[in-house]
Amino acid sequence: MTEPTPLANYQSYKNLPPLAGLCTIKDAIQPGLSVEECVRRLKRFHYCFVRMHAILTARITAEPIYELKMAYSHHAYLCAEHVTALRQRISEMREPPLGLEVVPHPALEAFFDEIRNAHSTEEILFGIYSRAVSALLEACERYIRDTHPLADAPSQRILRFARLELCDLIEFGQPAVVELPIANSTAWNTLLENLLEIAGGVDGINPVDEPNLPRIYSNATYTYDPIPKRDERFQDLWNQGVNAEAFLYSKAYPPNAKALMMMYKRIREIDVPEMMASIIVQTSGKPWNYYRDLSRQLWDEARHAMMGEVGFVALGVDWTQARITYNWSYRLNTECTPQERHAVLFFIEQGLMPKSGKRYEYEVAHESGVPIMGTIQDFDWADEVLHSQIGRQWLVPEYGGLLPAMKYGDECWSRILSNWATVKEKGLTSHENWWPGIYTQACIAAKRVPDAKVLDFAETNEAKRADIHRGGLVGGE
Ligand SMILES: [Fe+2]
Ligand SMILES: [Fe+2]
Repeated sequence: MTEPTPLANYQSYKNLPPLAGLCTIKDAIQPGLSVEECVRRLKRFHYCFVRMHAILTARITAEPIYELKMAYSHHAYLCAEHVTALRQRISEMREPPLGLEVVPHPALEAFFDEIRNAHSTEEILFGIYSRAVSALLEACERYIRDTHPLADAPSQRILRFARLELCDLIEFGQPAVVELPIANSTAWNTLLENLLEIAGGVDGINPVDEPNLPRIYSNATYTYDPIPKRDERFQDLWNQGVNAEAFLYSKAYPPNAKALMMMYKRIREIDVPEMMASIIVQTSGKPWNYYRDLSRQLWDEARHAMMGEVGFVALGVDWTQARITYNWSYRLNTECTPQERHAVLFFIEQGLMPKSGKRYEYEVAHESGVPIMGTIQDFDWADEVLHSQIGRQWLVPEYGGLLPAMKYGDECWSRILSNWATVKEKGLTSHENWWPGIYTQACIAAKRVPDAKVLDFAETNEAKRADIHRGGLVGGE
């Protein structure tokens, strides 16, 4: 049988772009990948995004460097979104059974196990950004080139979004690995390259038939580290010397000083991703959308912390002089089950919804007269409304109603008694009052005479049900 000759002079009406703008007719008359091959490759991309999401999330708590903690929160969320899109697309392509949990190639599994088990910040950075992300990007680009642009337009569309964000990850990762290079890991670096080669790259186009390579880090069983760590800019991590909530909700103080205290509360939210990451890692068996929703919420909390950082800079104040403690995440991660932690978070977030919660913070921000404060609290409020909905969606059915879920969260939180005296006795902190120093900096930057009453604020969290909500434990939202 001979191939037919295509029409040479076929034209669209009035030369309008043909095929809904997807491609030219010339491109479209070429065959593309089969549905079977598309599904095979898409499942491998799905696997990579699942593994990267898990590795990044599992590192958030124990990663000391703040900038990396925040980037991992962001990038884990992006991976979760691509997992969601790929799952949806694969399900449209004559599957089920979906088989999404199947490991596509043992060498690809070993490749990600090695990165997950890596010992240092530098190695994890290198493994994810210099190896995994670039290999995945290359495979996505090949798919976009190989597949039929009209027949498989839905896959092309989601992979174009994936490509865009993988490029963003590389843009972050490239300078990061230059600043924090791996040391003496040549053998490991070579192992990663070899494993990818044996797997035939991320898409498995040309797998190499090789015996199993000896693993380096992933010979040992992986154990998740739930203990929060911070870099050296974070000092005095058990300090509970300034009761931020008491200041914020008092009628005695002016909005400009309250805005500064609110920025402290925002940057202190670094403890929420540290805690939420442990829920995601240590909770198994939920539908995928549970992990997607929690990853989104985790990323929002990381943004809240960074908005606090930005707020400090805008107010002319060095945030390292405040005490951004980890008491909250540390204690929840070590004293509660993942289920209890989630219930505590739920209880706190439902409590932010009344007028005295996020709306109040937004109003104070506006009254402060510093425009960026308004922007920060406006979006912080919107995010918290979303989080309260996410909590209701996942927790309320589990406890048989809003009130039982609230009651359980309240009980879990109440069980964590104040450690104000113990940390002091152990010499972990003297609960120094750092507030006057911070406030003075803000006054100098604003060329304002310090308000004596604000300067004198010295209420600590001792013997307080520290948050406005309750509990001896301060932190979180
Ligand atoms: Fe938050
Ligand atoms: Fe939240």
